[in-house]
Amino acid sequence: MTKPQTSKILTGDVSVKIARIEGASCTLVISSPPYNIGKEYEPERRSLDEYHDWQRGVIKAVLPKLTEDGSICWQVGNYVSGGEFLPLDVLFIDIFRELGLRLRNRIIWRYNFGLHADKRFSGRYEMVLWATKSDDYKFNLHPVCVPQTYPGKRHSARKGEKAGIPSGNPLGKNPSDYWEFSAENDFLVNPVWEIPNVKASHPEKTEHPCQFPVELAERCILSMTLPGDLVLDPFVGTGSSLIAAQKHGRRGVGIERDASYVKIARARLDRLRKGELPLRPSGRPIRVPFPGEKVSTISTEWVVRRQQTAKAS
Ligand SMILES: C[S@@+](CC[C@H](N)C(=O)[O-])C[C@H]1O[C@@H](n2cnc3c(N)ncnc32)[C@H](O)[C@@H]1O
Repeated sequence: MTKPQTSKILTGDVSVKIARIEGASCTLVISSPPYNIGKEYEPERRSLDEYHDWQRGVIKAVLPKLTEDGSICWQVGNYVSGGEFLPLDVLFIDIFRELGLRLRNRIIWRYNFGLHADKRFSGRYEMVLWATKSDDYKFNLHPVCVPQTYPGKRHSARKGEKAGIPSGNPLGKNPSDYWEFSAENDFLVNPVWEIPNVKASHPEKTEHPCQFPVELAERCILSMTLPGDLVLDPFVGTGSSLIAAQKHGRRGVGIERDASYVKIARARLDRLRKGELPLRPSGRPIRVPFPGEKVSTISTEWVVRRQQTAKAS
């Protein structure tokens, strides 16, 4: 059955369109801004200082839109220039603090694939900075709890009255600030969240070069908002955060200046309403090739190369 549309997207520059959002109306602002690394959607290459000031201006303009009990989640990666590397959260932690936000977590989002570096170790994680406007903020752990590692564990005899009583939380365990979602590890052995990044084989992949997975936004939305709350993404791209919001009965508003991404985002939201949008089911394990499968067999060229390298080193 087709569900009602609970999201809208404003096409245009965030510095202009932000004025259209009502004050103190959003419980969560979640976004992944451009990283200033020359992607096709960022033709203006800024100096690091200019980038800092621009992003500071955006966050300052967004804050009055947050409710007093609201949160902001800024998903950022790394800025690389001339081979030199800066994890962008370093800039944003300063901006958040200067603007009076209270930092709650620096979440590590680890993924399995990405660019291969040859003059440093290949990067395999990005960050989500979570801050709140006040100390009285919405946070509900239960919808995002993961199963206990040892659900049968009980308090020891030394615990007096509690001795013999199950020691964990029956509703599950805090998923921690390290997000790596693998159902195999997650639900059986070691409960951590592993969310793969959105590469060509990912069911959510569109033409956009830098989507984040819907699952990533889902975790923030489920824990930091309630059904009916409004979620804002000021750099909404293909609408991943609005899809997560709508999927869980929240309202969403996004801003995006590239009309072609807005078109994709609206089409995805429409497909979601009709129950036709391909999404990676939460908690699905990353596929591991079978032994003997072509991709898991070392090629003959590599065997020779490895022998040569072993001799040389
Ligand atoms: C990292 S992408 C966000 C991708 C998004 N999270 C998704 O999953 O599709 C950043 C987006 O910000 C948009 N953008 C860049 N500068 C903007 C501006 N000044 N105002 C509004 N949108 C802008 C880009 O077109 C791009 O789609």
